[in-house]
Amino acid sequence: MDIKDSIALVTGANRGIGAAFVAELLKRGVKKIYVAARDTASLHELLQQGDKRLVPLPLDVTDADQVAAAANVATDVTLLINNAGVSKYEGALSANDTASARQEMEVNYFGTLEMTRAFAPVLASHGGGAVINMLSMLSYVSLPRAATYAASKAAALSLTRSLRAELGAQKTQVIGVVAVQTETSMGSVMPEPRMTTAEVVGDVLDALQAGTNDEVVAGAQTRGTMEAFLADPKGMQAMMLTRLPIRA
Ligand SMILES: NC(=O)c1ccc[n+]([C@@H]2O[C@H](COP(=O)([O-])OP(=O)(O)OC[C@H]3O[C@@H](n4cnc5c(N)ncnc54)[C@H](OP(=O)(O)O)[C@@H]3O)[C@@H](O)[C@H]2O)c1
Repeated sequence: MDIKDSIALVTGANRGIGAAFVAELLKRGVKKIYVAARDTASLHELLQQGDKRLVPLPLDVTDADQVAAAANVATDVTLLINNAGVSKYEGALSANDTASARQEMEVNYFGTLEMTRAFAPVLASHGGGAVINMLSMLSYVSLPRAATYAASKAAALSLTRSLRAELGAQKTQVIGVVAVQTETSMGSVMPEPRMTTAEVVGDVLDALQAGTNDEVVAGAQTRGTMEAFLADPKGMQAMMLTRLPIRA
C-alpha cells in the first residue's frame, strides 16, 4: 500500500504506539487520519498542531454503537490500524476476579474483531486497503505474570490469520505486528531495555509499503527475541513460565 494515497483510522491514537503511528503516517504523507480516542479531549495537544489532515473521532472499541457510528462517518478509510489495547498484568488465578481478563479480551480481541467487521466493507469499496493489528510476542508465548493479556493476544494472532484469509478475496492486506516491550505507559512495567515507539511503527509502515501480507516482527529487540524463540520454542516458553504473578 502506498501511504501517500491512504486514509487511515488509528484506534487509541492519543498516546503510546497509536500516537507514534499518527506522527509517522503524517511524516510519510498520508492524506487524512481519523484519530480515534475514547476521550477526544486527550487529542487536544495533537490537534493544536493544526494539521488539517487530522480528524478526531470518539471511539471506545468495546462500544458497538460507537464502532458502527465510526464506520458510518469514516467511509473513506483505506487503512485500519487496530492499535487500542489494554494489559492489566494479572495472573490467571491470583487476580481477584476475572474482570481484567474480560476487559483484555473485550478490547484486544473483540475490539479488533468488531472494528474489522465494521470496516471490511469500507475497505472493499476502496479496492481492499489494509488492516494492521497490534499483537505481541506474548501472542506466541504465555507469561503467567500477564496471563490473561497473553491469552487475549494469542486469540488476536489466531484471529488475524483468519481475517487475512477471509479478506484475501477483497484484496485487503493484513499485517499482525509482533513486538516486545516498547517505551509506553503499558511497556513501562516490563524490564529494560525497551524499544522506542518510532522504531516499532517505522518497521511496520515500511512493511506496509512493501506490500507485506503477514506478521511483521517489529524492531531489532523483537527480531532477536523471535530468533531465540524459533531456535528453541520450548526453552523460551519454560523460561517465561518461571515469571509468576507478583501477587501469587
Ligand atoms: N508497549 C508495549 O510494550 C507493547 C508491546 C507489544 C504490543 N503492544 C500493543 O500495542 C498497542 C498499543 O499499546 P501501547 O503500549 O501504546 O499502550 P498504552 O500506552 O497503554 O496505550 C493504550 C491505548 O489504547 C487505548 N485504549 C484502551 N482501551 C480502549 C478502548 N476500550 N477503546 C479504545 N481505545 C482504548 C488507550 O486509550 P486511553 O488513553 O483512553 O486509555 C490508549 O490510547 C496495544 O494493543 C498493546 O497491546 C504494546
